[in-house]
Amino acid sequence: MTKARVDHYTSVAIVLHWLIAALVIGLIIAGLSMTKIDALPRALRFEMIQMHKSIGLTVLALTLARVIWRLSHRPPPLPVAMPAWQKTVSTLTHGAFYVLLLALPVSGYLMVSASAWGVPTFYFGVIEVPHFPGFAELTPEAKKPIEGLFKETHEILAFGAIALVVLHVGAALRHHFVDKDAVLTRMAPWLRAR
Ligand code: HEM
Repeated sequence: MTKARVDHYTSVAIVLHWLIAALVIGLIIAGLSMTKIDALPRALRFEMIQMHKSIGLTVLALTLARVIWRLSHRPPPLPVAMPAWQKTVSTLTHGAFYVLLLALPVSGYLMVSASAWGVPTFYFGVIEVPHFPGFAELTPEAKKPIEGLFKETHEILAFGAIALVVLHVGAALRHHFVDKDAVLTRMAPWLRAR
């Protein structure tokens, strides 16, 4: 494992963090809009779902890269003065984020693979992504409950992700503005001059 940086994450970890964060927030906003706004024109909803699938699969690939990077590059240490319970909550939150960022796109992919509609997934309109093997042969009646299960899982995980994002952003802002420690600047070193 590469030696820990003293006061901030590696550039690769920082780029992956902010890129994934931006994409996930976009996916949540677009995901809620395309499923909850009944007045959306059908063609627009279709395009949004196609784009959602492509960006979601991108997040899956970026998260896999991030996990590999994280396993080979130790993060900088947390402030010495940080209470032990906060360090434990921080470790648990980050672990939960990795699990969600893998399980959310996988559940979405399995949902569309099991869908009785059989809508193909084109990655950014260019490459057809094969659906998970085994579902295509099932009858529409057999597909329905499987699709329903993954759809429910995707929705529950998405709401879990929203709760985690709120907790994570709240904690980061509290560290920066109230505790005035270096927790946020480990991931946003450009704020360090404050
Ligand atoms: C980190 C990645 C992802 C996030 C954060 C995310 C988030 C969301 C959210 C918030 C919704 C609305 C849930 C609801 O309230 O019903 C949604 C719906 C949906 N997602 Fe994802 N998603 C991700 C990845 C994917 C992937 C990879 C696919 C497919 C390849 C996918 C396919 C879908 C589809 C088809 C819907 C609409 C479900 C319906 O018709 O109700 N998602 N997603």
